[in-house]
Amino acid sequence: MDDLRIKYIDAIAAAADEAALEELRLQAVGKKGEVSLKMRELGKMTPEERQVAGPALNALKNEINSALAAKKVALADAALDARLATEWLDVTLPARNRRVGTIHPISQVTEEVTAIFADMGFAVAEGPQIETDWYNFDALNIPGHHPARAEMDTFYTHRAEGDERAPHVLRTHTSPVQIRSMEKTGAPIRIICPGRVYRADYDQTHTPMFHQVEGLALGRDISMANLKWVLEEFFSAFFGTEVKTRFRASHFPFTEPSAEVDIQCSWEGGTVKVGEGDDWLEVLGSGMVHPKVLEAGGIDPNEYQGFAFGIGIDRLAMLKYGIPDLRAFFDSDLRWLRHYGFASLDQPTLHGGLNR
Ligand code: DAH
Repeated sequence: MDDLRIKYIDAIAAAADEAALEELRLQAVGKKGEVSLKMRELGKMTPEERQVAGPALNALKNEINSALAAKKVALADAALDARLATEWLDVTLPARNRRVGTIHPISQVTEEVTAIFADMGFAVAEGPQIETDWYNFDALNIPGHHPARAEMDTFYTHRAEGDERAPHVLRTHTSPVQIRSMEKTGAPIRIICPGRVYRADYDQTHTPMFHQVEGLALGRDISMANLKWVLEEFFSAFFGTEVKTRFRASHFPFTEPSAEVDIQCSWEGGTVKVGEGDDWLEVLGSGMVHPKVLEAGGIDPNEYQGFAFGIGIDRLAMLKYGIPDLRAFFDSDLRWLRHYGFASLDQPTLHGGLNR
């Protein structure tokens, strides 16, 4: 028994890892281990012999089990120490600098426009960018043969061969949201609809995708005079200086009468400045909503009337922030975005300021 004790206690002390330890456990106290086999021999002994050998064997078994458990803990501690020695972290290092993104000028200007019109009681409405040709054209008094359809360089979606239905279009303007809003809430109504629009056109001032904001105000006695006041109020707030407007008679299928609106500007020194000088810059289309358009929206033209307008948001952003080329808006060039972008906390509000 002493030989067994010395053999196993020494071997356990010298075990290099858990696998070696498990091997020793099986050899000593496993089912067919040396100590276990010895215990089986107890049955063949005389009662006297057994009284001596029994407790001694039990004590040996306990001693080996304790030694195994202690060594297991010691091995785990050593492994942890080794890991702690190699994997360490200097928590006093300064944090890595992460560049924060910026708000795109289009998003910023959309927020500015929304804040100004919200202050005049206009809610924001939205519609789908893929439209039926009815909402994009017919309901706005642009029938199939109308030249405005061709002029708009429309993107059409695909229809399966043999499907005779008119294809859906990428909306060419935000005006279809007028119809959707009339259907949804009826009159009276005061909304703006900012959003993306699409036309097949590409040069310094045109991109196939761009942004408009539509305006619509319907009531029992809303007139062109209200339109003029609202627009002058808007431009003055937006540019942070009093801006005069000039209304020129024009034609749109969805308004009667129609007007194109110019804002006062100067071209001194080769750059455009809004709100000074005596030049004019065309910025939007507008007019009194055509009775046929009201009818298409489910509104009785004998009861309600009002104005509508459509402004290019990208154009507004270029004018206000001195951005010369529209195409750069959509290039995702980080240098451009960092230069013209806005801090994420720079939320435009009327009272906080729109004109930094
Ligand atoms: N939908 C026109 C366009 O994209 C802009 C426009 C003109 C909208 C006159 C209107 C309007 O609501 O009354 O060119």
